[in-house]
Amino acid sequence: MIREGRLGRGFDKEVALYTSSLGFDRGLLEYDIYADMAHALMLHRQGLLDGGDAKRILALLKEILEKGLDERDLDPDMEDIHMAVEARLTRELGDAGGRLHQARSRNDQVATDLRMKARDDVNALSKATSDLISTLLATASEHTGTVMPAFTHLQHAQPTTLAHHLLSYADSLLRSMERLDEVYRRIDRCPLGAGAVATTSHPIDREMTAGLLGFAGVLENSMDAVSTRDYMVEAAAAAVLIAMDLSKMAAELVIWSTPEFSYIELADEVASTSSIMPQKKNPDVLELIRARYGTAAGGLVSLLTILGALPQSYNRDLQEASPAFFSLIEGVTSSLSVMSKVIRTMKVNAGEMKAASTRDFSTATDLADLIVKERGLPFRTAHQIVGAMVSMAIKEGVEPGQVSSELLDRAAESVAGEKLGLSEEAIKAAMDPVLAVKARSITGGPAPEDVEKAIKERQRELKKREQTLRERESRLNEARKRLLESVSSILEA
Ligand code: ARG
Repeated sequence: MIREGRLGRGFDKEVALYTSSLGFDRGLLEYDIYADMAHALMLHRQGLLDGGDAKRILALLKEILEKGLDERDLDPDMEDIHMAVEARLTRELGDAGGRLHQARSRNDQVATDLRMKARDDVNALSKATSDLISTLLATASEHTGTVMPAFTHLQHAQPTTLAHHLLSYADSLLRSMERLDEVYRRIDRCPLGAGAVATTSHPIDREMTAGLLGFAGVLENSMDAVSTRDYMVEAAAAAVLIAMDLSKMAAELVIWSTPEFSYIELADEVASTSSIMPQKKNPDVLELIRARYGTAAGGLVSLLTILGALPQSYNRDLQEASPAFFSLIEGVTSSLSVMSKVIRTMKVNAGEMKAASTRDFSTATDLADLIVKERGLPFRTAHQIVGAMVSMAIKEGVEPGQVSSELLDRAAESVAGEKLGLSEEAIKAAMDPVLAVKARSITGGPAPEDVEKAIKERQRELKKREQTLRERESRLNEARKRLLESVSSILEA
């Protein structure tokens, strides 16, 4: 159709298939129809499309919106979804169908469709993030007293609680929601009317189409409007950070589910088994969540690489960014939802967590702190004394719970040349992981009352973010309703 003017011969079949975006831009159909409707309404109001043609076009668009395209329209060597819709319009309406493309280009059309889809996709991603945060907070609130070791270098470091640990992920995911809120605001600008690159001489009304499509405003400079996909990079980066949190959580949960740790047990419905080893309960689902971070990060690199070094304008390279973006966002959204399921259904072995933190010397810092508080020694000296004591205890087979005043004094003498004379009870208390956690009643620390407060605060913040999200979604729904009402009022006139 568009080839018949400039190009003599038909498109080479192989090249047509190679260049077509129909394989993935079918997902844009609904958005393309809305944008077509808005454009037709605007052309009509501006006196650029007469009432009869406007009616015919809008009626058919409405039918396509309701019933989709036929297979006939979706000929695989069709260049893209925009051509597929136009082919249908001209096939059924003849000349009237050919009038719709006045004062626009596929360049501003695809840029508009993509932003409309990105709004919905970012909203779905935010929703899935919010669901996981809410799952983490609910689980955390059951475990503010579940003591476990906090790790650094995957070595027991200091005692904490499962709630404190889960809250660390919730906080990180909340920042990602904040990023998505910001990206959304930048996505929400309408490129339609930018034309191919330099707008049009027809007296169009860009503000009107932007409003009909529920955008907060127009994306002004027409060259910028057709070429930028910066929001894809931003949203993808935000999504990749979410996937990074998920991969870390997955990696930890895989370790925690081993018999060596036994901190958690996965529910049967999210676990796999082996085709040969009948005893196996495997965390395949977590391994895939972990791996899909790699796929998402790869998608971000694809976007960055595809979008760089292009002359500032529309280039067909831009088409290649779309599927990378779609599958990245879709992949992270589904990982989030599956992770929520895993966390909601897993069994926490609080006894094992607690036991692990009494088997180790993870309260050594607390003992050094006691020496500083009771004897006024510099922390560095106390650190050396406790280090020497731990080394002796390990050599002599003394358990952390059995550390005596005598052992500590031997270490103190070897390091500082004098005894400390601390009481057995004081030492026991300092080395009790439950008390060590309680003692860390510092902003951001693991003490149960502080974590409980923090959880409540996060729940309030999450509610606000969910509210913002619901408002965004309802603005889009209302815009869609209004657009369809405008269409109906023309059809009924
Ligand atoms: N399928 C194309 C894309 O996704 C639509 C725009 C084509 N424009 C063009 N001038 N060839 O970018």
